[in-house]
Amino acid sequence: IDEKKALITIFGGTGDLAKRKLYPSLYRLYRKGYLNKHFAVIGTARREWSDAFYREVVIESVGDLAESPAHVAEFASHFYYQAHNVTDTEHYDKLKELSETLDAQYHLDGNRVFYLAMAPSFFGTITEHIKTQHLLTDHGYRHLVIEKPFGHDYESATVLNEQIRKVFEEDEIYRIDHYLGKEMIQNISAVRFANTLFESLWNNRYIENVQVTLSEALGVEERGGYYETSGALLDMVQNHVLQVISLLVMEPPIKLTDAEIREEKIRALRSIRVMASNEVNDYFVRGQYGPSETDPTLKGYRQEEHVAPDSTTETFVAGKIMVDNFRWKGVPFYIRTGKRMKERGTQINIHFKNVPMNLFSNEDQENLCPNILTIFIQPTEGFSMRLNAKKVGQGLHTNPIKLEYLNPTDKGLNTPEAYEKLILDCLNGDSTNFTHWDEVALSWKFVDVIQDTWKQNQPDFPNYASGTMGPACSDELLAKNGHKWFWNEIG
Ligand code: BG6
Repeated sequence: IDEKKALITIFGGTGDLAKRKLYPSLYRLYRKGYLNKHFAVIGTARREWSDAFYREVVIESVGDLAESPAHVAEFASHFYYQAHNVTDTEHYDKLKELSETLDAQYHLDGNRVFYLAMAPSFFGTITEHIKTQHLLTDHGYRHLVIEKPFGHDYESATVLNEQIRKVFEEDEIYRIDHYLGKEMIQNISAVRFANTLFESLWNNRYIENVQVTLSEALGVEERGGYYETSGALLDMVQNHVLQVISLLVMEPPIKLTDAEIREEKIRALRSIRVMASNEVNDYFVRGQYGPSETDPTLKGYRQEEHVAPDSTTETFVAGKIMVDNFRWKGVPFYIRTGKRMKERGTQINIHFKNVPMNLFSNEDQENLCPNILTIFIQPTEGFSMRLNAKKVGQGLHTNPIKLEYLNPTDKGLNTPEAYEKLILDCLNGDSTNFTHWDEVALSWKFVDVIQDTWKQNQPDFPNYASGTMGPACSDELLAKNGHKWFWNEIG
């Protein structure tokens, strides 16, 4: 294992993301030896914390992953805390001093990762000060990691990007979309490009429609304040959903390198049809959850904390995405995502076309069941393929059967978590699983038409009950084309 040398400065070091995702992921890398002697982490935020207190927080967030109390304490000894007001120039000078001390102490070769785990309104100020106060070294690498949302529309995203680009080059910027770190999202390329069986059928001659469902059972929890400014369209569709679609749609790259894959993903996003505003309502629908009809503990969205009692924020989106190129012309890519749905699960279902004629006379079905390839993204990971096979017994009748493979996922240390993979990629300088500015820009252009149109008319919310698969308009969207949502039950 190749040990990584770096100083990682986390802006927003006291925050939820740092505690839930970043510290446990860094610890996993430490357990595996990617991080060992030559790394240090500076956590910064407004609060006044001591190093000792910060280390306790880090140890606590590592929780059950800890190999032993001594091991996790050793890991935490690499963490330092610096109270910081992002607009105060002097604070950056202190940060610089500490960085240089730690670099000398741990032999970090000038390598720097700046992780901005906080509201994007500060990105410009922070990156500017990183430059003016000389936090960038003249040796080693400098990588900037940023979390979504990258703006709230194309225009604001452009402004944000310009601010960041004044300091960092495009190839130094790592825009996180944690879906790209998920094992089964990375598996889309393997299924497609390592199997003749699928890649040769991966087009409009054989595929009837594609369905992507990202369903969450949880509501907005304590994030009502943020969610009110976002909604499902910006929270999920602009980033995760469109990234998944681009991986399904793209042409085979000539090599599996970051530059080649990115080029194909950008071409895929460019081929997605941007709707005219008068088409939006035919292609996209939205919903908001009301209280559960069966479980009195599940409130409606409007009753959640920090949510306006007459909020028109959508907690569900379903849409039909059309891809205008030779391969995909005419194939609908249906997507849906929502909170407080029936169960938590992300799956991709590829529906193949029916055979040209049905030779089998099945009493219970006029048509054969179409073949469906399912990619189970989470929580269970795996694949399933629905085929038609002969019914056992006299005569030639068929019934659908399922071939299923589930990853023997080990929820322990061996299955890397999305954040763990992405942080290691960043330390390795590999940006394959991060989003390039061009991808962000194209996604915003697609989404902006929808948000602009939606702003112009008042939705009739709430329109689905907590614990269901979304509003009726979502089913109607598919019914218009003679299609139906498919949810593959495991087993
Ligand atoms: C985040 C959204 O990007 O993704 C959350 O902000 C959402 O609202 C989450 O819950 C879903 O991620 P996962 O990994 O649980 O599917």
